[in-house]
Amino acid sequence: MGLTVFLFVCLAALGGWMRYLRLQGETVPAIDTQTSLFPSLRRVHFSLGMMLVFTILLLLSIGIVGTLGHFGSLGHSPHLPVGLTVVTLTLASAWSATQINHPQKPWARSLHLTLNSLLMVALALVSWSGWLVVQKYLP
Ligand code: HEM
Ligand code: HEM
Repeated sequence: MGLTVFLFVCLAALGGWMRYLRLQGETVPAIDTQTSLFPSLRRVHFSLGMMLVFTILLLLSIGIVGTLGHFGSLGHSPHLPVGLTVVTLTLASAWSATQINHPQKPWARSLHLTLNSLLMVALALVSWSGWLVVQKYLP
């Protein structure tokens, strides 16, 4: 989870930087030399994004396998729906990212940003609800 949050913060920083460069390039085209950073930023952002998807799926499988092993069933707390929401938002965000440079899909960029804001809230909720579940096992 620490890695997940770390990746999320890096993605937000890189994404914000890309947005800044892009908007600068729009208003001040002469700044092109700086904007050449953009393709590498984009590659790093995309790779970190794939790692985020991977860590979230890993947490999902650990949660499901662990809970099934312990109880033989799922759905003991709000942690399950919140966890599934996090997974859905992450996959949707990664998908929306692949649509961003499509000329006929101007909505993809704002969708990516909206999904990521929701994801931030959902990550906080999943940590909180996960923490509550952990408390149940402590004496
Ligand atoms: C889930 C995995 C993710 C993938 C695969 C991904 C991929 C991408 C891609 C391909 C772009 C387009 C860059 C371009 O304009 O050409 C982008 C833009 C962006 N992403 Fe992500 N991203 C992910 C997660 C995130 C997260 C978690 C955040 C923030 C918390 C974020 C924030 C941004 C921002 C701010 C932009 C720039 C939008 C703009 O230029 O206006 N991304 N992302
Ligand atoms: C992206 C993040 C996470 C996802 C997608 C996720 C997903 C899940 C899922 C689907 C379950 C099965 C829940 C059930 O059927 O009731 C589970 C169980 C569990 N998770 Fe997570 N989880 C995440 C993060 C966390 C965190 C941060 C913690 C601890 C602080 C945590 C602690 C637990 C514990 C203790 C269980 C066992 C629940 C039980 O026995 O009722 N999880 N997780």
